[in-house]
Amino acid sequence: MDQRSHDVALGDPPRTRHELNADAPWDSFDPAAYVDHNYRLLRSDDEEILIAVRDHFSDHFRSASTASAGPRRGIDVGAGANLYPALAMLPWCDEITLLERSAANVQYLHAQRSDYDSNWNPFWDVLTKEGAYRDLAEDPRARFKRTVEIREGNLFDLDPDREQWSMGTMFFVAESMSTSYEEFRTGVERFLRALEPGAPYAAAFMEGSVGYEVGSHRFPACSVGETEVGEALTPLSEGKIVLRSIGMPDGPLRPGYEGMIVACGRRSSE
Ligand SMILES: C[S@@+](CC[C@H](N)C(=O)[O-])C[C@H]1O[C@@H](n2cnc3c(N)ncnc32)[C@H](O)[C@@H]1O
Repeated sequence: MDQRSHDVALGDPPRTRHELNADAPWDSFDPAAYVDHNYRLLRSDDEEILIAVRDHFSDHFRSASTASAGPRRGIDVGAGANLYPALAMLPWCDEITLLERSAANVQYLHAQRSDYDSNWNPFWDVLTKEGAYRDLAEDPRARFKRTVEIREGNLFDLDPDREQWSMGTMFFVAESMSTSYEEFRTGVERFLRALEPGAPYAAAFMEGSVGYEVGSHRFPACSVGETEVGEALTPLSEGKIVLRSIGMPDGPLRPGYEGMIVACGRRSSE
């Protein structure tokens, strides 16, 4: 969740330089620095997001109309060095694709696959407050190892005519990969088009982001709020999209963003 890692210094002018997704140094993303800053401990904003996503997926799959579905495949788009979106899909998936552009993050994910680090345990503990996670017959590490497939790739290359998934997540990616609103909107569109009609999804966004640093490299972002997020999701969603601004429950860690937004919805049949 990007900006929480060393955002612009207080008083810095907002960045005006345009940087497209293809121009950013993704292979130099430092997953150790990123995890250390963002996910070493479970923060209350992540906890709030996790609860919303856990309840959304649990409610969706509890309903009779989805109970008879066959093998399910989940996808986390731009997984980076964050395992909790994949953990949130774990009870319902026979396979989970972690799609990631950065070679360094792909390496991190491969290392986590066989036996993920203990910093992810408190995230799993929040999930187990719901029966689907708590009643899993398998140890979460064993299930993670068995179901996760790590794929190095570009979300702009996702092609719904070739492949679609039955549930999906995309956390802090569409708004945190470019200064371009067009790329933000296209990123959200590619994510939703990768999902089958009716598939439940959860997406998280940094609000009002002006870019971020991870390790010694700076990465681009575009500043979005609930309006832009809702407008990007609505054309390919059905039913109600639950959008929640998380704000900064513990106050700002640093300047350069205004909070977080979590969106839970369902892919339309268009
Ligand atoms: C701010 S990080 C978010 C990581 C993680 N999802 C999280 O919740 O913390 C943005 C991630 O998007 C990935 N990314 C950027 N452009 C991408 C693209 N075109 N296709 C796939 N992943 C991309 C980056 O490598 C990075 O891992």
